[in-house]
Amino acid sequence: MRAAGFDAPGGPEVLSLKRLPVPEPGPGEVLVRVAFAGVNRPDVLQRMGNYPPPPGASPIPGLEISGEIVRAGADVDAALLGQKVCALVAGGGYAEYCLAQAAHCLPVPDALPLAEAAAIPETLFTVWHNVFERGWAMEGETILVHGGTSGIGTMAILLGKLFDLTVIVTCGGPEKCARALEIGAAHAIDYKASDFVEEVKRITGGKGVELVLDMVAGDYVTRNLKCLAPDGRHVTIAVQGGVDARINMAQVMTRRYTLTGSTLRPRSSVFKALLAQEIARNVWPHVERGELRPVMDRTFPLAEAAAAHARMEAGEHVGKIVLEMGAG
Ligand SMILES: NC(=O)c1ccc[n+]([C@@H]2O[C@H](COP(=O)([O-])OP(=O)(O)OC[C@H]3O[C@@H](n4cnc5c(N)ncnc54)[C@H](OP(=O)(O)O)[C@@H]3O)[C@@H](O)[C@H]2O)c1
Repeated sequence: MRAAGFDAPGGPEVLSLKRLPVPEPGPGEVLVRVAFAGVNRPDVLQRMGNYPPPPGASPIPGLEISGEIVRAGADVDAALLGQKVCALVAGGGYAEYCLAQAAHCLPVPDALPLAEAAAIPETLFTVWHNVFERGWAMEGETILVHGGTSGIGTMAILLGKLFDLTVIVTCGGPEKCARALEIGAAHAIDYKASDFVEEVKRITGGKGVELVLDMVAGDYVTRNLKCLAPDGRHVTIAVQGGVDARINMAQVMTRRYTLTGSTLRPRSSVFKALLAQEIARNVWPHVERGELRPVMDRTFPLAEAAAAHARMEAGEHVGKIVLEMGAG
């Protein structure tokens, strides 16, 4: 099979096409003939050598796929053969065939294009877990999401709309703010033009937000905590602004803040299966009814994986970038 991988870490240009054997599904696994694979920022970090795959995972990048199940492992229901699915995978998505745990697959409804299906799992699993399970977001609450036009940010806006949250986002520039509002954010703050702490105070009438979904960390943490209402939750999903933060612990104590965070990829297979079940119950009916469709940026042929990474690193995309296996 063709796959896009790299021998040594580096810039986008290290990604090239490889010929690899088609993997064999083991117990609990299915082999998916991949139609599309989503591109995520963690793939870029992996390519740079900063986010190694967990033990046992394919060294080929790619954390989410869509396609057709063509083989099933020994103990997997053969009825799955031929099903169109999307799946969260621990690696190996940038390839014509990819192994997935059967329990980490979700069925693709007929009306959902496979390109869009591939763009769902990584951000949906991440946002669902961090906003609703770790961050206990409840209907009627207001949340602040940085990176409003990112893959993660756009999914947070869409889920927020579906589950009655008021979503305030920050974005770098007026065009991105306008796109975030079109997608469904209640407010979009251009963090390059104004102080998001002041803006959040103004928007919430001084009350603050119940939750911050943070992908920046560093000096944002001090400022994020200033945006939180009492009993607020601060959820870290990336540290793009640095790992060190200055935190006033008296503020954490007196305002009863909760600080948490997580990374999805190294979590256990059982955890991901339970998350998939919860998503199948709570979110998938919205996908089936066409109420949740990911925000798409661009599709690249597999052979142009390097260009797809370069686009993500340029930071001009809005929503999701995907790779198409059949093209090019
Ligand atoms: N913890 C997990 O399980 C998990 C899972 C998936 C992804 N992630 C992380 O979530 C983040 C988004 O992933 P993605 O795939 O959606 O990537 P993406 O589309 O490339 O988005 C990255 C976003 O980060 C924002 N950003 C970068 N530096 C910033 C800064 N200094 N201040 C404010 N915003 C900044 C950018 O916003 P502007 O262009 O508006 O500045 C951009 O929208 C990544 O950091 C990724 O590693 C975490």
